[in-house]
Amino acid sequence: MNTPLALVDLARLVRETWVRHVDQHVELDSTNDRALEMADSVSEAELPLLVLADRQTRGRGREARVWWSAPGALTFSLLIALDPDRLPRSHRSRLALACGVAVARTIQESLPAVPLRLKWPNDVYLRDRKVCGILVEIPGGSAPRAVLGVGVNVNNRFHSAPAELRRQAVSLREVAKRKFDRTALLVALLRHLEEQFTELCDRPAALLAHWRRFCLLTGRHVHVKSAGRQLEGCCEGIDEEGRLLVRTAHGLERLVSASIAAIDPVPQERGVL
Ligand code: BTN
Repeated sequence: MNTPLALVDLARLVRETWVRHVDQHVELDSTNDRALEMADSVSEAELPLLVLADRQTRGRGREARVWWSAPGALTFSLLIALDPDRLPRSHRSRLALACGVAVARTIQESLPAVPLRLKWPNDVYLRDRKVCGILVEIPGGSAPRAVLGVGVNVNNRFHSAPAELRRQAVSLREVAKRKFDRTALLVALLRHLEEQFTELCDRPAALLAHWRRFCLLTGRHVHVKSAGRQLEGCCEGIDEEGRLLVRTAHGLERLVSASIAAIDPVPQERGVL
């Protein structure tokens, strides 16, 4: 049995992390929707506010996709305050990169021997399958705030998932062949989120360097959809503003938003006869 997160020692989360308030639910449509609803009504003193749900019935992903999750996954949203003096508006898109590094570091600590990569902007991959998705949204209210939505496949399995997902996703449990303590993982992840947020604000170049170490796409031939265009070429990583660099036949493209349609397989080394 997975311990329901709703029964977890929530005081521990507040004691041991930067979270100031927890809004916990056994079931929610979407933790991001709940955090967005609350964004304008909670006081600064309650932030960061953690919205935690054991189950989501309508989890949302990037580009209006559905986020499917089964019992045992870790799904939460963190509502944080944004100080425009520390994080200029133009750097907000890098929040997604910071979250990706935080998740990558957390998982790497639990599974040091398994290759872990970030697929731009912030999908987290173990070997060649997605283990975590991140959805960062900026609420429309008067106070500058952000919602960092994170879904990690921890103890869930994919046997009852749609066929496409079964091929593309994986959980920590499936890789490690053991179950994980979701509370411990959540505490570690919240700490890393604080560290990476601080790095983003105070040393943005260091955050980008950190992100590059995990890049799945650098040096790979990619097929990308961006602003209604389809491009292909060799990925050269990310630039100093966090944009994806793709060297096409017509020159270097710097992409602010894009979805990676396909990544060509790494060529196998040929044997010498
Ligand atoms: C993606 O991979 O496209 C992003 C998926 C983000 C899923 C998380 S689960 C917690 C939070 N609530 C949501 O509705 N979505 C995010």
